[in-house]
Amino acid sequence: MFLSISLPIIQRGTEGFWKSVAHYVPREPTEMRILNPYFIQEAAFQFIGLPLNNGLMGKGNIPTLGTVAITMALHNCDEVAVAGFGYDMNTPHAPLHYYETVKMSAIKESWTHNISKEKEFLRKLVKANIITDMTNGI
Ligand SMILES: *[C@@H]1O[C@H](CO)[C@@H](O)[C@H](O)[C@H]1NC(C)=O
Repeated sequence: MFLSISLPIIQRGTEGFWKSVAHYVPREPTEMRILNPYFIQEAAFQFIGLPLNNGLMGKGNIPTLGTVAITMALHNCDEVAVAGFGYDMNTPHAPLHYYETVKMSAIKESWTHNISKEKEFLRKLVKANIITDMTNGI
């Protein structure tokens, strides 16, 4: 199975927290899948170990969609290999994602994700050969 997921980024700014949410998706309903929120919960609390915050999702306890995608892939795939993961702060002006112009340094402004805790978790997966990091960014 090949899994491809578009990753949104949450950022502060004059236009609000969410950037360009799609109003129209040029696909048939039969081609659509809905992400089971279980994977977000499992990634956040069982895997990364983010704080429960009395059940409130927000400050520092929302996993990135990349880690949610890995969590889902670990349930559904025999092998999981990732490419383009990791936030390289040595290149703060490099694009954060391949599909937009937001820069790497923007992730430091994120108040929803805990990048250092996530990195710890992803490094454990790579070290234990549970996932393969094809571009060595983790
Ligand atoms: C990330 O988690 C660490 C360890 O629990 C904590 O000290 C830090 O404040 C958290 N950072 C954010 C941005 O929530």
